[in-house]
Amino acid sequence: MIILGIETSCDETGVAICSDFKILSSYTKTQSIHQKYGGVVPEIASREHEKYLPNITNKVLNDANMRFKDIEAIAVTNGPGLMGSLLSGISFAKGLAQALDIPIIPINHLEAHLNSVFIDHSELEAPFINLLVSGGHTQLWLVKSMFNYELLGETLDDACGEAFDKGAKKMNLNYPGGPEIENLAKNGNKDLINFPRPMINDNSFNFSFSGLKTSLINCVNEDNYNFQDIAASYQEAIVDTLINKFIKAMDKFSVDSGIICGGVAANKRLRKKLSELDKKIIYPSMKYCTDNADMIAFLAEHKINNKKINFDNDFSAYSRGMIT
Ligand code: KG4
Ligand code: ZN
Repeated sequence: MIILGIETSCDETGVAICSDFKILSSYTKTQSIHQKYGGVVPEIASREHEKYLPNITNKVLNDANMRFKDIEAIAVTNGPGLMGSLLSGISFAKGLAQALDIPIIPINHLEAHLNSVFIDHSELEAPFINLLVSGGHTQLWLVKSMFNYELLGETLDDACGEAFDKGAKKMNLNYPGGPEIENLAKNGNKDLINFPRPMINDNSFNFSFSGLKTSLINCVNEDNYNFQDIAASYQEAIVDTLINKFIKAMDKFSVDSGIICGGVAANKRLRKKLSELDKKIIYPSMKYCTDNADMIAFLAEHKINNKKINFDNDFSAYSRGMIT
């Protein structure tokens, strides 16, 4: 089946075509306009999606050597995410599906992330523990099989990507803050400041990053340390916290494969520390770690294949919500 996927949950405008579980073409436009505001501005994000979706769709069709009439179904992210952004994508997708008289399939963004690893690792077999770490989410999942997941824990306040972004902003660095802090940390002393490792001694698989961010703000205000040392020590605290819960979950559920996805999975210090452990850790390729429409179209095809879908265009967006 030939499926056109559309992803607009935050500040990436993505369109992709998937057929027989292979991505035939795809394009992701990261909205750089938000950089100057130091974070995503929701209304601007919605407008940018609306502005670029038609041309990106034409490009993706051309790259796959296809025409609109070749598309057999549309898949679109309907949550969780920024309401306006989601509605821009859904409105476009519904209009297209109606005009082409083809079915439309709503896809949960988090479920798509959980399965994105299969796009280029079809050999992988569940169970595994999936650590989803992005600007909006920090979640630990036990993936028992495709379509069978259990949320083990998540952040109670800020996402870990948000901790990087807000920490960077406090040090007058650019957005997104993760790569900026990583870069600054290269020449810093990671052991100089003993930032808290929040919640690592409790029995849950939840996280909390807002206190850590407050510690960084205090440190910056005290003016006793240089930013390189603050960045290195702060990054170390975030990385240690993530690894602690990730490995505990793998041990508790006797799962020997761990997967990390989301933008924070790019962090080199996180990867280095995990490589030093005797664990099998798999990273989807970077284009599937960050937001993309490939994973939306890919999951939709699996759902259709497994008859896990009710074709019904009577759905709308939700900003928060779990996989159903
Ligand atoms: O998954 P993503 O591209 O977008 C969503 O949030 O959905 O993740 C973006 C997040 C941002 O918070 C960014 O600062 C963080 O991922 N990030 C990183 C790195 N690259 C991106 N965090 C730490 N180290 C990095 N190298
Ligand atoms: Zn995402």
